[in-house]
Amino acid sequence: MGKSSLNNSVAKQMAGRAAANLIENGMIVGLGTGSTANYFIDSLILRCKEGLKIKAIATSKQSYIRAQNGGIPLIDINDISILDVTVDGADQIDSQKQMIKGAGGALLCEKIIASSSREMIVVIDESKLVKTLGNQLLPVEIVTFGFKATMRKLELLGLSGILRMSDSSTPFTTDMGNFIVDIQLPTPIRDLEVLNQQILAIPGVIETGFFFNIAGRVIIGKNDGSYQLF
Ligand code: 5RP
Repeated sequence: MGKSSLNNSVAKQMAGRAAANLIENGMIVGLGTGSTANYFIDSLILRCKEGLKIKAIATSKQSYIRAQNGGIPLIDINDISILDVTVDGADQIDSQKQMIKGAGGALLCEKIIASSSREMIVVIDESKLVKTLGNQLLPVEIVTFGFKATMRKLELLGLSGILRMSDSSTPFTTDMGNFIVDIQLPTPIRDLEVLNQQILAIPGVIETGFFFNIAGRVIIGKNDGSYQLF
């Protein structure tokens, strides 16, 4: 492992641990997906072993298995009406806390769970902070039926996308059995909320990786082992 990725993992670990320390007895907690969320889950496992009593709902099979292996009690989202908090990572976040998520392919369940939570705490390292949202790829989840037709309609909006692949011949499928198209947004960046609505209006599009007006506290892990809250 190179020095920078080692430092990055220290930053992610700091953010994950700080978020786990905010969890209180009796809470229903959403477990995000990705490497930073994994550090949160690992710290939460330790806290549960020390006596913390919570129930959790996972945003992906991967997070479910990690939490289950660590002994975190897991419940079904359909058995509750609201979660106290969800802790999840982000791919990009701007100064207004608007985000793009979905590099890990779990954006649909992540959005359902975050939007069903009193607060979404976002855990990131500094590399996720951006001045302008949308300079990197936007993941869009689409149904497999007619996916080429859906991609053509995205192109008509000026959004060229690449079907995410698991390997050279197999498209990546989400936990929900859908495909992901990674879209390069046109520059200059247009009004993203309008663009989001245009994308969502295409038949076959299920959800986008835009997470607007949903982030609560943001914990930024630092390479020096500290963290900052914003
Ligand atoms: C998964 C996500 C992740 O939260 C996002 O990709 C950040 O991941 P990481 O913490 O590994 O950088 O949205 O769908």
